[in-house]
Amino acid sequence: MHILITGATGRLGRVLTPELARAGHTVRAASRAPAPLGKTGPDLPAEGGGEVRPVRLDLVTGAGLPAAVDGVDTVVHLASAPYQRGYTRQVDVAGTRRLVDAAGRAGVRHLVYLSIVGADRVPWPYFRIKIEAEAAVAAGPVPWTVLRVTQFHEFLAEAMSRLDRLPVLPVDPGITAQPVDVADVAAYLRWRVTAAPGGATEEFGGPAVLDAATLARDWLAARRIRRRLLRLPVPGRLGRAFRAGALVSPTGDRGRITWQEYLSGRSERAG
Ligand SMILES: NC(=O)c1ccc[n+]([C@@H]2O[C@H](COP(=O)([O-])OP(=O)(O)OC[C@H]3O[C@@H](n4cnc5c(N)ncnc54)[C@H](OP(=O)(O)O)[C@@H]3O)[C@@H](O)[C@H]2O)c1
Repeated sequence: MHILITGATGRLGRVLTPELARAGHTVRAASRAPAPLGKTGPDLPAEGGGEVRPVRLDLVTGAGLPAAVDGVDTVVHLASAPYQRGYTRQVDVAGTRRLVDAAGRAGVRHLVYLSIVGADRVPWPYFRIKIEAEAAVAAGPVPWTVLRVTQFHEFLAEAMSRLDRLPVLPVDPGITAQPVDVADVAAYLRWRVTAAPGGATEEFGGPAVLDAATLARDWLAARRIRRRLLRLPVPGRLGRAFRAGALVSPTGDRGRITWQEYLSGRSERAG
């Protein structure tokens, strides 16, 4: 198949691009950057007959869009600009509409949109934007699947790294999460792109539901950092949603790689 991946340079896109190419697909890896798959880009597939073709695409200006979708069977839409105020809306909502329309004109047969578990339950501006983008996909002319996924291991580790200059690590121990490895998401998508469009919202999460204190202690231990945890409940409706389990998907499909394996570098991706 010919598959366009938007956001091919992101956390998931960097892993998904070679995964789909190894599966034998011709993958258009889209980015705003002129040479996104240079030395720091994804490894080319070792075998399987597929290939990776970098394409330039900006969902805000629409530059590169007609060429990116031309002749494509399936689009995996990962591009997003989280927490950038007005720009987030331009990329995620207007950009998604632009992509869906162009894909419809090009006769694309399946559009898979990556969303977030809890997008409908967490009162966060970025999550509301994901819901608007989901609606744009569902209202569009292309048969679709929305895949809501839990937090990626990298994302949680990055969030904790940003706090590690503090003398204590603030944690709301009532919050639960179900982090997932991008390698598992990529493996699931490898199957999902070949299956029929679901026309529905599906969910995929990590292998275990963990509370925030466990996530933080495991991260500190793996990084050999000595810090006390400071119990700091997230206030208001946001905290209540987190503590009610809005970020977990106990009934959805699950990955295999655990948070501990990711931290110790024992995931397949970390080698
Ligand atoms: N991170 C998580 O924990 C998580 C969890 C569940 C679901 N998701 C969803 O999964 C998807 C991928 O997440 P991620 O963390 O891998 O993303 P990411 O690392 O934040 O990467 C975002 C991607 O969007 C592209 N992009 C940004 N602005 C663009 C524009 N104007 N036009 C075209 N492309 C643009 C960037 O490409 P260039 O800069 O190269 O142009 C980049 O490849 C997102 O939809 C996200 O909401 C993420």
